Amino acid sequence: MTTALPLAGRTALVTGGAGGLGAAICRALAEAGASVAVGYNRSAEAAQALAASLPRLGGARHLAVAAPVTDSASLAGTASVMGAEYGRCDILVNCAGTTRFVPHAELDALDDALFDEVLATNVRGPFAMVRAMLPLLRAASVPGLVVNISSIAAVTAMGSNVAYCASKAALDNMTRSLARALAPQVRVVSVSPGLADTEFVKSMDPDWRDLQAERTPLRRLANPEEVALAVLACATHLPFTTGAVLPVDGGRPLV
Ligand SMILES: NC(=O)c1ccc[n+]([C@@H]2O[C@H](COP(=O)([O-])OP(=O)(O)OC[C@H]3O[C@@H](n4cnc5c(N)ncnc54)[C@H](OP(=O)(O)O)[C@@H]3O)[C@@H](O)[C@H]2O)c1
Repeated sequence: MTTALPLAGRTALVTGGAGGLGAAICRALAEAGASVAVGYNRSAEAAQALAASLPRLGGARHLAVAAPVTDSASLAGTASVMGAEYGRCDILVNCAGTTRFVPHAELDALDDALFDEVLATNVRGPFAMVRAMLPLLRAASVPGLVVNISSIAAVTAMGSNVAYCASKAALDNMTRSLARALAPQVRVVSVSPGLADTEFVKSMDPDWRDLQAERTPLRRLANPEEVALAVLACATHLPFTTGAVLPVDGGRPLV
């Protein structure tokens, strides 16, 4: 890194930006000097509070913006806010995601409505965001960057429900398709966390969390900040990387 603010002058949009991982990603990008748009669906107030709390380094300007990823038509509005405020989008982080715990063997409990919601949010949503933001990503000062927040569940097929695992595998596949299709103007990368110690995960059964940590070669869960560092690295240290899936999982699939 050649400067203390490697993302000075760059702009980023993080969907699900007020969530557990999203907030850490917004902060890491802002601390690197980027102007950050905190995308929200239901959490407008939290997104506004986060945007107001981010460090404004090197003239950065942060804002909160509605980015309801399942409402494709409304994403033109998200893009026009980004366009009016910044004129381009250097980094799009697709972090919005949804799930609910359904044991994999209980097929009747995973109804069509939940299946469709998971796929619409976790797969169609990131696609719709890229489609809406493409002119602004192409206007980026260096190749535009899309980071899709995937999950270890894409490879292990262990996760909150069958549809969630399938959605993240589809997302990683889409990362490769879009990386090929959008090169050379836009790079597309997946960052694939294992279980991360967000507030939501901290609220789960401690014995179950401890078991997940024990089954991880590095013997702990990820910190949200470590996932954020991987996103930052895609923007700062991996300029020749596209179409790749970057694991941040402590080696969990090895066990
Ligand atoms: N935490 C983990 O251990 C872990 C591990 C691997 C992968 N991940 C992935 O990391 C991402 C973030 O997870 P998290 O743990 O930070 O979860 P979280 O705290 O529950 O945040 C989820 C975010 O997604 C947003 N969202 C949900 N539906 C949306 C929609 N239709 N339109 C726009 N935004 C929507 C929410 O926004 P609003 O609140 O504004 O509605 C929220 O900010 C997800 O893609 C998840 O699959 C998490």
